[in-house]
Amino acid sequence: MIDFAPQTASGKVLWHFTMSLDGFVAGPNHEMDWMFGATIRPGLIDEYVQTTGAILAGRDGWEVINKARPYGGDWEGSLFVLTHHPEDATPTPGVTFLSCDVAEAARIGLEAAKGKNLEVFSPTIGRQLLELGLIDEIDLHIAPVLLGSGKRLYDNPGGPTIRLGRAGAGDPAAVLNVRYHPITG
Ligand SMILES: NC(=O)c1ccc[n+]([C@@H]2O[C@H](COP(=O)([O-])OP(=O)(O)OC[C@H]3O[C@@H](n4cnc5c(N)ncnc54)[C@H](OP(=O)(O)O)[C@@H]3O)[C@@H](O)[C@H]2O)c1
Repeated sequence: MIDFAPQTASGKVLWHFTMSLDGFVAGPNHEMDWMFGATIRPGLIDEYVQTTGAILAGRDGWEVINKARPYGGDWEGSLFVLTHHPEDATPTPGVTFLSCDVAEAARIGLEAAKGKNLEVFSPTIGRQLLELGLIDEIDLHIAPVLLGSGKRLYDNPGGPTIRLGRAGAGDPAAVLNVRYHPITG
């Protein structure tokens, strides 16, 4: 089922995640197994392999995915990992450890993306970039699961309300209607 126009490569900064219906992008101990069993439309992975020029990740996410290349190894591009402690990072081919302010990290990532998109694979870095007005799009795949706890896409207690407009055709302020039923057994 095509539920949205395919992603395009145009030098955007994308905050890109698969998210649970209740807003988590990882379980309490960074678990990612909840994603398995959720089906994605044909060609979706390739869409991002083709349109992504660079990825900016945080140190924790990078350590958790065990230094694997994103998108099952099919993706070729520049991978940046932001950390305050680059000196104790394990040098890894194809990975650049950055220790700079977050806006500079986005600038470096966009330059490396060479006109394709920069994907931000980190809730914490995404929030920082959002505060600076440096996120162009929030691009989510919502999995049919409720986690109840974990790492939220946007965790900012006491922070301001962020108004969003829906990308694509139609009323940008329209509510998105979804219906699910619990699966038992
Ligand atoms: N659902 C999905 O599609 C998806 C995709 C990607 C990742 N994830 C998950 O997202 C989770 C990671 O998110 P997270 O927010 O906990 O951690 P994270 O953003 O990956 O890492 C946090 C770390 O990044 C570094 N960092 C962040 N901002 C920085 C700044 N301004 N300057 C320097 N360093 C900075 C710091 O590392 P130091 O402590 O070394 O300084 C910080 O402790 C993981 O569980 C991962 O599996 C989910």
